Amino acid sequence: MTGGTEGIGKAFVEALIKDGAKVATCSRNYDKLYALQMQYSQQHLMIHRADLSFEADCKRLIELTIKTYGRIDILINNAGISMRALFEESELETLRKVMDTNFWGAVACTKYALPYLKQSKGIIVGISSIAGFRGLPGRTGYSASKFALNGWMEALRTELLGDGVHVMWVCPGFTSSNIRNVALNKDARPEAESLMNEGKMMSAEECVRLILRAIERRKRTLIMTFQGKEAVWVNKLFPSWADKLVRKFYYKDNLLVK
Ligand SMILES: NC(=O)c1ccc[n+]([C@@H]2O[C@H](COP(=O)([O-])OP(=O)(O)OC[C@H]3O[C@@H](n4cnc5c(N)ncnc54)[C@H](OP(=O)(O)O)[C@@H]3O)[C@@H](O)[C@H]2O)c1
Repeated sequence: MTGGTEGIGKAFVEALIKDGAKVATCSRNYDKLYALQMQYSQQHLMIHRADLSFEADCKRLIELTIKTYGRIDILINNAGISMRALFEESELETLRKVMDTNFWGAVACTKYALPYLKQSKGIIVGISSIAGFRGLPGRTGYSASKFALNGWMEALRTELLGDGVHVMWVCPGFTSSNIRNVALNKDARPEAESLMNEGKMMSAEECVRLILRAIERRKRTLIMTFQGKEAVWVNKLFPSWADKLVRKFYYKDNLLVK
């Protein structure tokens, strides 16, 4: 499971270890990984410092997981970053960095884990987003990365139908985490703070509870929160109206405020 030191990933580590699973995870920050390792020093937790925007790091993560545990049953492509900047004002680097982690990181981890997942007839999970169904202003690169993730997973799912490997993607709605505190700005640098009320969002623990239930049931996909389901359906049935509603949610006086 990638990206286990914050938000949804950290809640995954906690829930999976509680369930007795053997967990391998990564992030770019060694101090946070070390703190996690200390918290679970008596349990099966393998940590590895990796930047998933580099293919070699993805390959090494999978190799070390196999060296440690000998098998992979579930791959959860969770690590992700976001952005908050208008396309017109953004350096392309902002969009590239988001794609490199959210899309290419998941693709590379899956590529190297696939032989082992075929052996175990395992499960590949992609943590996508409502932004993978409905593009969001100020998040052009993020939306593109999640649309790409969904399309790639749907195609892969079809390719693997005869191999017993299950492929699913899940779309959390707004979930309280660190993602908006470190969203990239127009210059591809992390923002300093979230502009949304994190306290009113679904908790990462609840989000993980729902995802684990969907994994157990080998669901095809999962769309979370009332607001998330509403956004997907309104966009499907009334796309022009959805444009106006989404614009109204993110803008005030013609300025992007969220
Ligand atoms: N929170 C939401 O509202 C929400 C909604 C829909 C979908 N999601 C999706 O849920 C997933 C988890 O997001 P979150 O909200 O839990 O975010 P988060 O709190 O910011 O956690 C992200 C985790 O991924 C790691 N990570 C980021 N970039 C990485 C990279 N290049 N290489 C390795 N690790 C990396 C982070 O550690 P380092 O930064 O230390 O590397 C951190 O452990 C993402 O895919 C996100 O798009 C979140």
